[in-house]
Amino acid sequence: HVLAQDNLLPQEYSVSQKYRSQLKRHQPLVVWFSGLSGSGKSTLANLVEKKLAEKGIHTYSLDGDNIRTGLNKDLVFTSEERSENIRRIAEVAKLFIDSGTVVIAAFITPLKSDREIIKQIVGERFVGIFVKTSLQECERRDVKGLYKKARSGEIKNFTGIDAPYEEPVDFDITIDTENCTAQEAVEQIICVVERRIVSR
Ligand code: PPS
Repeated sequence: HVLAQDNLLPQEYSVSQKYRSQLKRHQPLVVWFSGLSGSGKSTLANLVEKKLAEKGIHTYSLDGDNIRTGLNKDLVFTSEERSENIRRIAEVAKLFIDSGTVVIAAFITPLKSDREIIKQIVGERFVGIFVKTSLQECERRDVKGLYKKARSGEIKNFTGIDAPYEEPVDFDITIDTENCTAQEAVEQIICVVERRIVSR
């Protein structure tokens, strides 16, 4: 059985990642936010991207709802398809790394095994941010009304209700959103990101 990839040879590009980084005057990075639905991932990711862009840093955002209406619109919320969702996003993030960009990714990423795969795909240029908001608080906010639907059984496999969320224990930063302001959180994240992207 011959796989398509057996007969593929990677194309050598004449513009390298190093050269693109020199043009941008900073290193690339993946800043990956994980947390329950409604934890505040997207809000923080947006604020962080805005701050970085104001500093002249080249950024690009990848966000759950956006990717799931485009690239990954064929995927549902079973654990298998969540894994495939995360795998594809990690591959996209890897391309952005090669382009020299700081990627801001916000996905629930509920499983430890999937977070391991991201690191395998992306490599060292990864910063993990756990947006720690309790299920109780996410459900109280219920911004999109999804927890109500999950409780009534209208949505199945909802993270935190009838699908697992394994809290990250090895991420670089934990943001306790119930005990700090968004501004404080953003400052803490920016500080770590800036240290990781200084030009060599
Ligand atoms: S995952 O688990 O990382 O693949 O999820 P992600 O791609 O981040 O998508 C999460 C958003 O999808 C909506 N949604 C659900 N979330 C969790 N469980 C179920 N069953 C589900 N169905 C739809 C929800 O709006 C999530 O958005 P956020 O921004 O996290 O609230």
